[in-house]
Amino acid sequence: MIKYVKVLMMASALFLLLLQPAWALDGKKLYTTKFCITCHGKLGIAVAPNYPNLAGQNPEYIKNQVKDILTEKRKTKLSRLMTANPVVMKITDEEIAAIADYISKIK
Ligand code: HEC
Repeated sequence: MIKYVKVLMMASALFLLLLQPAWALDGKKLYTTKFCITCHGKLGIAVAPNYPNLAGQNPEYIKNQVKDILTEKRKTKLSRLMTANPVVMKITDEEIAAIADYISKIK
């Protein structure tokens, strides 16, 4: 019996460990704290007509574009608005992924 309980406890600990990344990063919160919201707007509808809406966009595309913009592989007059923000520049791959996941699910 005790053996059973131990195995069960270990299994649930492992399960929680596996779930952790999904909990650790809140894409919705990051979208605000990393300033994306100031330009791409509440619910991913841009604040200016020449800024892109992000709501419902494919997450893969969002991730690739953010990386290209931050590494200046994609560089335009407008993309410089993103690279000028030191908080945006320090964003990690995991944070980009969490934000992309959140924003892609907004319709
Ligand atoms: C200061 C304003 C500003 C901030 C802050 C900002 N962006 Fe942008 N973003 C822009 C503009 C403007 C463009 C369009 C660039 C261009 O035309 O090349 C853009 C482009 C993009 C694109 C490409 C969209 C497309 O359709 O190709 C993505 C994805 C994106 N931003 C995501 C983000 C994320 C995620 C954050 C937060 C970490 C963020 N942006 C923060 C202004 C901003």
